[in-house]
Amino acid sequence: MRHLISLKEQSKEDISTILDLAAKIKAKRSAGELTNYLPNQTMIMLFQKSSTRTRLSFETGMTELGGHSIFLDKKTTQFSLTDASDEIQAVMRFGHILMMRAQEVADVEQAASFDRIPVIDACSEKYHPCQAIGDLLTMAEHSNGIENVKKIVWLGIENNVSNTLKLACAKLGIKMVLATPKVHEVSVDEELNKMCDETGLVTKTLDLEEALKNADYVHTDTWMDMEFFEGGKIKPEYEEEYKKRNELFKPYQLNAELIDKYCPEAKIMHCMPCHVGYEISRDAIDHKNSVIYDQAENRMHAQKGIIMWLLEKEDLVK
Ligand code: CP
Repeated sequence: MRHLISLKEQSKEDISTILDLAAKIKAKRSAGELTNYLPNQTMIMLFQKSSTRTRLSFETGMTELGGHSIFLDKKTTQFSLTDASDEIQAVMRFGHILMMRAQEVADVEQAASFDRIPVIDACSEKYHPCQAIGDLLTMAEHSNGIENVKKIVWLGIENNVSNTLKLACAKLGIKMVLATPKVHEVSVDEELNKMCDETGLVTKTLDLEEALKNADYVHTDTWMDMEFFEGGKIKPEYEEEYKKRNELFKPYQLNAELIDKYCPEAKIMHCMPCHVGYEISRDAIDHKNSVIYDQAENRMHAQKGIIMWLLEKEDLVK
């Protein structure tokens, strides 16, 4: 049975197949063709954390594939009252595919270990494979083919999103430079790092000029925790950490000045939600090179490809 957790288990060919499926299904949608390949199929979506794009893209994606999705969260289910493993095994009896936005990837891995229905990690502390595949689709579209993407840059904090993006790039032969003064400790996966290091394609530097030179795409993600804020102000208990992070990361903010100076042709990407004025500036979001809304939309198209691949129904997509 296929599962999508870290991208460690997917080959270059698997990723290419998923991208191809996504592009084909997207083209059919643009042409007004129906893509209802999954009648009577249900996706169970389990959210332990909040989401805008992930929920919307999976729900609309399943609708457009002719299937159905059911949203579950911790507050309105029995997950907080009992053993999660028992609840998961019961939940899996009702659907054909399970998507989990879990606090810890260990819960996703446990669900996958039951091997009853395909399981998707929809953003854990270590991985965000759907984001990586959506980002590849966006870059492929804006470069007229993923083979034309040669170098991308990640600015700010190294985290779950950068983990799966760098592994996807390493597998597809794309260089990725991380200009990241800090790693989010809970995201570290030594095995994944080793897989990337072995390709020689993933490198690190804190020299922004060197990092950004000849970049095709520049990505970033949040380095401020939103729990630091209340009513637009920093909570007193987080003031020290807020100052520390601002000093450390501010030079690595994705802004128009940086792009215009070092890589004026590079496209600007952010997986969203954006924390404006922190990891990204308003002038970068609104920059002529920004593709962040295409990137958001492509979560849906990419995930349709992922769903069809996980259910081993790729032959239905002609
Ligand atoms: N990028 C992303 O996963 O967005 P959400 O947290 O809104 O789902």
